[in-house]
Amino acid sequence: MARPAIVAHGGAGAGPERRANLEPAIEVGRAILEAGGSAIEAAVEACVLLEDNPVFNAGTGSVVRTDGSVLTDASLQTGDGRLGFVIAMEDTPNPIRICVDLLDEEINGLAGPGARRWADARGHLKADVIGRPPKDEIGDVGDVGPKPAEIIGDTVGVIARDSQGNIAAATSTGGCSHRPAGRVGDVALPGSGYWVNGAIAVAATGIGEAITIALLSKRVHERISATRDQSVDSLEAAMQWGIDNHIAAHHQVGLIALCGSGIGTGVANTDMPWLAWQADS
Ligand code: GLY
Repeated sequence: MARPAIVAHGGAGAGPERRANLEPAIEVGRAILEAGGSAIEAAVEACVLLEDNPVFNAGTGSVVRTDGSVLTDASLQTGDGRLGFVIAMEDTPNPIRICVDLLDEEINGLAGPGARRWADARGHLKADVIGRPPKDEIGDVGDVGPKPAEIIGDTVGVIARDSQGNIAAATSTGGCSHRPAGRVGDVALPGSGYWVNGAIAVAATGIGEAITIALLSKRVHERISATRDQSVDSLEAAMQWGIDNHIAAHHQVGLIALCGSGIGTGVANTDMPWLAWQADS
């Protein structure tokens, strides 16, 4: 039996006040894991809660692109070698659920209108109006409104490990603000916004171009594998190494990781709310 665990982040650049918005997601994941549920289920259901919370740049709270469109990306990868990702989905508040269906398909990924048609054929929720609501409509959650000139590249991410030792990472985003509608960020790209293999998982958040060109999650995953040390200190050192050596300081980037039998942790070069839980035994 492995020790169930879950770690989630609310995006690089998001203020610490959003940590409270992560708590329900961690709680949902914890309840699933304690009831003997799978890492996939825990990561996905926690991610859905974050997609449904308009303070986060994902799902319902996704940022608007330069043409006024709102498009969502998501990915799901498992330690046993399965992968699903979607890119630039219209009218899709919970893209992570489509990734679940892709895990056991012959295809890994889908993009654009074809992805939405594929989701329609499987009855996935479609919502005509999604996108970050005006600040005064979000409610009392702190200063969540982006400054007009600020590029928002944050994301939500959850990594879970179940009692069987299986691990899964779910990431979801509305992409980067001030970017065109066809732009592809890191969140759906394997090795960039996430990498999961065996008992180690890494997920990134921040400016997608910087994360993608660094192949950041894969690089940090390799570093963790090479050290063969599962301690929080070792995970944090590997993530810090990735950010310090492969990301220019002016790009806001963060990472979370979960490894072996340890608890998850997070590191960022900016504010990044994150929370972790691990079963007592
Ligand atoms: N990290 C989100 C994006 O750049 O698309």
